[in-house]
Amino acid sequence: MKTPKNTKTAARKSARADSGAKTLAIDIGGTGLKACVLDDEGEMITERLRVETPANCPPAEMVEILAELVAPFGEYDRVSVGFPGVVRRGKVVTAHNLGEEAWKGFNLDLALTKKLHKPVRVLNDADIQGLGAIRAKGVELVITLGTGLGSSLFEDGRLCAHLELAHHPFHKGRTYEEELGKVALEKVGKRKWNRRVSKAIETLRNLTCFDHLYLGGGNTKAVKMELPPDVSLVSNELGMRGGIWLWRERGHGSTDIFRKADAHAVPGDDAQS
Ligand code: BGC
Repeated sequence: MKTPKNTKTAARKSARADSGAKTLAIDIGGTGLKACVLDDEGEMITERLRVETPANCPPAEMVEILAELVAPFGEYDRVSVGFPGVVRRGKVVTAHNLGEEAWKGFNLDLALTKKLHKPVRVLNDADIQGLGAIRAKGVELVITLGTGLGSSLFEDGRLCAHLELAHHPFHKGRTYEEELGKVALEKVGKRKWNRRVSKAIETLRNLTCFDHLYLGGGNTKAVKMELPPDVSLVSNELGMRGGIWLWRERGHGSTDIFRKADAHAVPGDDAQS
């Protein structure tokens, strides 16, 4: 299908007027679909709505469910979407926890632009969580512990090429996601899972030499260990609030690389030390 360029260009133009703009933030998770509206500072100005993610949900059905979920919000100017897989220029490359085959190559950005009649930007969910969490100082690694395992890496606030640690070998031939994802937590229990998290922190420290590591995602509530001073837990809300950064400064002219321009504290991320 040919890209309706006019729809997208008009949509993008209308998104440029930033001041006072309201951003609809959507977080597509392997377990839940969440949405809220953010003000231009990234503060939530509506309640957060959530529905369960249907198992192996195909793209067309997902678009319908999301449109229904966000219908009560009424007014918003633009849309940020966190997706649980690799996304390049709006198109899905991988979707491990959603039923991969049906999703490969799907232009989620375009489908939602057409459905919601607003400009849409889609990025990996851990990248968005990271944009919300980081201080834009030094090397910052973000790991999300949820249904899957998300990862993003930043240098001085600039998002590096998407880092897909989830499916990388971690221990005895099993991947990070197999050892630390939701299924593993349920299977081995909190104690053993916490030992694995601790081991992963040290492995990732050696891999990236991070200045700071942020742990986010719904399963951080199961983290029961004392964390090193350069590791902190961040609120899961940042998975939506980070969406504001998709409409801010961009680095290196790429549509996939975002830069968080200035170091600043993100209001409300209380879990962060
Ligand atoms: C995907 C990542 C995603 C993570 C969290 C993994 O299975 O490969 O891209 O960030 O789950 O949703």
